[in-house]
Amino acid sequence: MNSAMMSKTPPKSLKGRVRTPGDKSISHRALILGALAEGVTNITGLLEGDDILHTAKAVEAFGAKVKRIAPGHWQVEGLGRAGWRSPKAPVDFGNAGTGARLVMGAAAGFDLQVSYLGDASLSSRPMGRVLKPLEQMGAKFDSTDGKLPLSQTRGGGLTPIQYTPPHASAQVKSAILLAGLNTSGTTALTEIHLTRDHTENMLNSFGVKLVRKPKNKGQTVILEGLARLQATNINVPGDPSSAAFLIAAALVVPGSDILVENVMMNEARTGLFGVLSEMGAFIRADNFRRSGGETIADLHIRYNKLRGVNVPADRVPSMVDEYPVLAVIAATASGQTHMHGLGELRVKESDRLAGTHALLIANGVDASIEGETLIVSGGRIAGGAKVKTHHDHRLAMSALILGLAADKPVSIDDSSMIATSFPAFFDLLAQIGAPMDMA
Ligand code: S3P
Repeated sequence: MNSAMMSKTPPKSLKGRVRTPGDKSISHRALILGALAEGVTNITGLLEGDDILHTAKAVEAFGAKVKRIAPGHWQVEGLGRAGWRSPKAPVDFGNAGTGARLVMGAAAGFDLQVSYLGDASLSSRPMGRVLKPLEQMGAKFDSTDGKLPLSQTRGGGLTPIQYTPPHASAQVKSAILLAGLNTSGTTALTEIHLTRDHTENMLNSFGVKLVRKPKNKGQTVILEGLARLQATNINVPGDPSSAAFLIAAALVVPGSDILVENVMMNEARTGLFGVLSEMGAFIRADNFRRSGGETIADLHIRYNKLRGVNVPADRVPSMVDEYPVLAVIAATASGQTHMHGLGELRVKESDRLAGTHALLIANGVDASIEGETLIVSGGRIAGGAKVKTHHDHRLAMSALILGLAADKPVSIDDSSMIATSFPAFFDLLAQIGAPMDMA
């Protein structure tokens, strides 16, 4: 069901403290690795978003036992040595690109027949970037155009590869590593730019020894195949990509002062915080601690007037999901912000480069696209438009945050997709003083 929503220009500044919900990337990986492992994995702080629920159903379809014990506390009994089994029905990933690509990689390591499906948005996204290396390893897939729906017709008994993905992509990296787990021999994955390394970190927690060789801005990951995963306990840290929307809300509403707790500070995820500091934002991390193999902290954000900056292309891997909301923040800053190297945004849940530009323009912001660069000029924001979200949760949330700084409320055609990554979005915004209305 579509549910249109609308921002209200808040009467006063945002105040209070909020706890960041579980990280989407880590939640997918905890379920998938739990399903591959020997024994019972306990996961706490799991993000119960629609994307993750699809991954939970998917690993169940391969034979794992998945149980929800309490809110955020899930148990996965993995298949271990027995290995995954062919699902009886097509595996539906809904909107979840990470779930789809990682599971396709893991399943390719087993001799299975599997059909995969997704919603309209996921079915328009390229899967060839994962299928191609998996086929080099010896798996076979039936797909018309490298997109969903597609089927694995052959897997297992693969040959390890040395692979350098053409795009900086943690999903592709993870798919190859997961396929390498049940493959005899050494799989080596080289990335030119480090992308989020949660798969590497979590494999360590499951007892798999990886060698990681840093090289310039990237790394080579070396994995010895036929690895045995031992069940473990995973406490999922808060998602910096969700925290970004709460931080943005405070940075666009004058007088705001909030504390965002439980934010994962993995350097491959926190590029946005560095850019915001360069823009002059007051954003202070305190109370550093370790959780689920990652460092977390609490972030104190205080409103002050920001200035536009130049964001070079090599920042993309550490903040690939944050550009729509950065563009919104840039619309309130003084001067221009240039964001370079955004080609990958075109193959996210929607064409996010076009969608971000369109949402800004529709609301009276001066913005343009030159090649792969998005340029936003800050100033007064008229607002008043109804934004097309194209089944994209991050465009939906970005548009509503823009509305907090606009003269007239901003509405979106559909808010249902927000639940894929951030079901608590509206509650947490209301908690700091920015309730939204039904449109
Ligand atoms: C993710 C990797 C990124 C990111 C996505 C989650 C992951 O995608 O956009 O939201 O969990 O590995 P790419 O690997 O395609 O850049």
